Amino acid sequence: MLQDTRMTPPPAVTAKAKATHGDAKSALRSALGRFATGVTVISAQTTDSHVHCMTVNSFASLSLDPPLILWTLRSRSARYHTFSQTQAFSVSVLAETQIDIARKHALPPADGFAERDWKAFLGGCPIIEGASAHFICKGHTEIDKGDHVILIGEITEFAEHKHPPLLFMGGRYYSGSSLKPL
Ligand SMILES: Cc1cc2nc3c(=O)[nH]c(=O)nc-3n(C[C@H](O)[C@H](O)[C@H](O)COP(=O)(O)O)c2cc1C
Repeated sequence: MLQDTRMTPPPAVTAKAKATHGDAKSALRSALGRFATGVTVISAQTTDSHVHCMTVNSFASLSLDPPLILWTLRSRSARYHTFSQTQAFSVSVLAETQIDIARKHALPPADGFAERDWKAFLGGCPIIEGASAHFICKGHTEIDKGDHVILIGEITEFAEHKHPPLLFMGGRYYSGSSLKPL
């Protein structure tokens, strides 16, 4: 019997997207994790002069004119009030050598660092030195959706350093310089 070679192979895992219980949620998280991203650290300074940082891979470019970016923040995050209330924040696109920085800023506690311990600023905003690119954003729009809020910021300043990027996929970090161009 002839086999129909046009048929697509069955997917490895299928599941309903409405993930309410544990197994379905982790299947959905795993499928979403197939989308490879860069890794950023979002930083902001609060009025008590503390610098707050958070590792984020939901960063995306939104518009060139006006220059807008977005990222999503878990509404129940301990860092929610800090980043939701700030008037300015920076996005540092991490270089592949900065995996320790990514790990450090993914950890609680979220009470920040004293300003005197912070070395690098751009446009008055704390940034991560040695990153591959920086974006300074002023003001933001917040859209509340599901268990996250979408934060949209307008870029007022940026810098590009072109170090190979740190990448994230399936819960693991990868080095940007080991990528094979196709
Ligand atoms: C690679 C990576 C990407 C992440 N991206 C996001 C993100 O886009 N939004 C978010 O709210 N948390 C993100 N997190 C989680 C935060 O970095 C941090 O672990 C979390 O906010 C800690 O919980 P807390 O905010 O309640 O202290 C990410 C963590 C990692 C390791």
